[in-house]
Formats: sequence, C-alpha cells, structure tokens
Amino acid sequence: MSASKNGRAAKASALVIFGITGDLAHRKLVPALYQLVLDGQLPSETSIIGVGRREWSDDKLRSEMRIAIEKFARTQPVDPAALDNVLGRMQYVYGDFGEKPGYARLAAKLEELGAYNRLYYLATPPSVYEEIISNLGEANLAQNERGWTRIIVEKPYGHDLASAQELEAMIHSVFDEEQIYRIDHYLGKETVQNILFFRFANGIFEPLWNRRYVNCVQITVAETIGVDGRAAYFDSAGVIRDIVQNHALQLLTLTAMEAPVAFNADAVRDEKVKVLRALRPLTGDEALRNTLRAQYGAGKQNGKQVDAYLEHEGVAKNSQTETFLAMRVAIDNWRWAGVPFFIRSGKHLAERVTEIAVQYKQVPLALFGAQNMAGDAPNRLVLNIQPDEGITLTFGAKIPGPDNKLKSVKMDFSYAEAFGASTPEAYERLLLDCMHGDATLFTRSDEVLEAWKFIDGVLQAWQTQPARKLPQYLPGSWGPKENDKFIVEHGHTWRDMEQVPG
Ligand code: BG6
Repeated sequence: MSASKNGRAAKASALVIFGITGDLAHRKLVPALYQLVLDGQLPSETSIIGVGRREWSDDKLRSEMRIAIEKFARTQPVDPAALDNVLGRMQYVYGDFGEKPGYARLAAKLEELGAYNRLYYLATPPSVYEEIISNLGEANLAQNERGWTRIIVEKPYGHDLASAQELEAMIHSVFDEEQIYRIDHYLGKETVQNILFFRFANGIFEPLWNRRYVNCVQITVAETIGVDGRAAYFDSAGVIRDIVQNHALQLLTLTAMEAPVAFNADAVRDEKVKVLRALRPLTGDEALRNTLRAQYGAGKQNGKQVDAYLEHEGVAKNSQTETFLAMRVAIDNWRWAGVPFFIRSGKHLAERVTEIAVQYKQVPLALFGAQNMAGDAPNRLVLNIQPDEGITLTFGAKIPGPDNKLKSVKMDFSYAEAFGASTPEAYERLLLDCMHGDATLFTRSDEVLEAWKFIDGVLQAWQTQPARKLPQYLPGSWGPKENDKFIVEHGHTWRDMEQVPG
C-alpha cells in the first residue's frame, strides 16, 4: 500500500491502543471494534495495534481479545467470521510507556503496514498520559505529512483546573487542537445525541424550553454499583470529578444550549461552551449552600451485603470523598435566569437511571380546585437516557365520572419499541466519528477548562470546611435523608424516582 502525494487518499490506517491489556480495552474498545466489523463499518484497511507493558505476543493478544469479545460483545452469540476478521487485524507492540524503544518499534510497525492515517487511543491510567504524548512527539509520530494523525484522550482529563491546564499545555505542545479528541462516553450514547435532535428537529418543544414555562430541571445519574475494584481512584475523585464535571455537565449543556447555527463540531461546541460560561460560580458559602455530599454506609442491596464506603480497601479511614452528590446550579443567561438545574448522582442507589426531567410551571389558576391539579406540577417531560431509553410527557387528565377529578397520566416514547432493542454502544459511534474526523461528540479544550473552572470553585469551598463525617445513606436507597430537605430549602422537591419512568 503506498501513500498518495498529498496524503489524503492514503487508505491504510491504524488504530493504536495504548493500554490494550487494561479493563477499558477489554470491556469497551475491542468489543466496539468487533461490532463495527460485524456491521461492516470498519474499513478493511484498518489495522489495530495494541501497545502494552506486558510481554505479550500477537497470538497472546488475539487470544485475550477473543475472550474479551466473546464476553462483552453487544451482539451475542459472536459471529465467527467477524471475530476472525477483527482478531486478524490485531498486532502487539511491547513497550514501556516511558521509554523510547517501544515508540521506535511502533514507528517501524506503522511504516511496515504503510499506515499513514493514525489514531492513538490513550486507554491507560492518566498518570502516564504525559509521557506517552511527549514520547509520540519525540518519535515524530504526532505529525505526518502522508495522512492524518489523531489522538483520543480518555477521562479523567485532569484532576482540577490547574492540572487540566497543565495537560492542555502539554498536549498542545505536541498535537494541534484539531487532532485532539477528548472522550466523554456519554456523548456517544444515542439518547444523549437525541437531546439535540429532540430539541432542534421538532417545532413544538423549543418554544416551551425556557424560563417562562420551566420551573426547574432535574438531572439524575443514579448507579446501583459501588466503587469495588477502583476504590483508590474513586477516593481521590468522588462523584464531583467522576460524574458531574463531565457526564452531568454535558447533559446540562445539551439541555440548556441555544440552537447551533449548523450541526458541526465547532458550531455545537460554541453553544455548549456558552452555557458553561453562564454557570453562576459556586464558591465559598454559595458552594456549601448549594451542594450536599454523602457516603453510603453498610447495608443490603438486592439481598447482597454491601460494605460501607469507609470500609473499602484503598479508601482513607477519615475520607471526605462523596459517593453521593446533590447540587443546585444556576445558569445566568436570558433563557434560564431564575430556573434552577438540580443535579443528583450517586453510587449504590436504588436503581440505575440516568434522566433529565424538565418540570413545567403550574397553571396560573386552580380552576378545578387545589387538590385537582394532578400533583403540584402536572407537566413534566422526562428524557430517559438509560436504561429504559425513551421520552415521557406527564400531564393531568380528567378521571371519567361525575366528579371533576384529575389524574396524572403519561405519553410515552420508547426507543426499544420504535427502533428495536439493541442500540449501538457509545464507543462504537465515537471511534468511528474520530476516524472520520468528526469531533462534534468530543469535548473541546475551552469546554473542558470551563467545566473545571466551575467545579474548582466547589472543590475549594469544600476544602475550607472542617473535617467531619459526611451524612450516610443506605445502599439501595435514593440517597441520604438530608437530600429531601436540601431541595425543599431551595423551594422544590425531587421527582419521585419510585415512579420511574415518567
Ligand atoms: C464512568 C465513571 O465515566 O462512567 C464510572 O468513571 C461510572 O464511575 C460510569 O460508573 C457510568 O457510565 P455508564 O455508561 O454506565 O452510565
């Protein structure tokens, strides 16, 4: 295979996964590549090169990845031809990420394959990002005249604003912004992408999507899992860094943003970043008043004993790290002034649910009597991101009969019913988009830094608080009892999750 003069027509490409021996590659990346092959979406000229610190051979890589695909592939049972196809594209390059010889071997391998279109994927712990990036630069692997070169960086993208700025400066000394694809896998979820389609491909919702009609927005990212196996990482992160700085703020920006002038990477991200800039800073007492942190205690969930967060190996005995966080966020712009956005997220909660609930204002006059208003706010639009993907609109309807009584009822849209059960995994879409050079579903430099700027204010405020035991909650519950009081003090109530969906 030879490169064309301008490099654009160079077809052979390589996806180079640093950290191929790790969990992310096993569970997500390689099964996603298998699925792309199965669906005929991965060009036949694409090779997959795994780089790792273990002394594996090509055969060892293939046998490990065979097991991973058989276990984690979205489409089961696994198709033998597609499996052989994807495994046949794989090669292994052994290398210590901090040492040059591995990069020389990688360069030789890429030359041998004639792979001038190159996508590097950092699926390693963030502690080695900088050495990989600088070594790629020094080995002349970051730029090439004969094709495109891109890099995907996984989260966590920094630990706070200062470290994110440092990483930005470092990565920009080697790669241009157009080459950098920062992943937030929530953006690859079909239902998250649909927020924009729902809002901007339909005429009827957008006129009601503002402070005149909306009472509050509640974003919930609830998980039933704990931090098993990654307690040490989690203890240095907490829900605020693990979920809110990225996934929850992404959901918030997509919900709150203005219509972009076009559906392309810069136009969409320009609008998202404006929302982040409009977030009212949460600092000092404001941050303390508008956040609630808690940790799960010991208890039973679905019949299984769960150890208290503080008892996990890797968690500091006096840890102040939250496994549950509720916060009230204000967006100071023309559309949303005065409309609170509440975020709640936690581990070991009652159900796995991610949703955005848009709560509409009450009618101006109680024509049917106070108790006949179908609840204190009858109209609610819920975007169910997962697991029961769909959209539900709740409204009041007259109960048949002589009395003027109302009941809350729902209009439901379900992805599974409309489109079939199996939706693509986020990583399938994101890998493909990156190979096509479409950065719309990746976060831009200014976006990441704005998000950190906001989060930093909260982190700093928390640090000024004297150490204390955080409120505790039972595994399998909806969070600490203080959570209801928290939102009531802000003049609202949490939507009752026992009634999910709708
Ligand atoms: C990851 C977090 O980014 O997202 C995990 O590090 C979390 O702690 C996961 O469990 C949730 O992703 P999903 O796709 O299962 O909602």
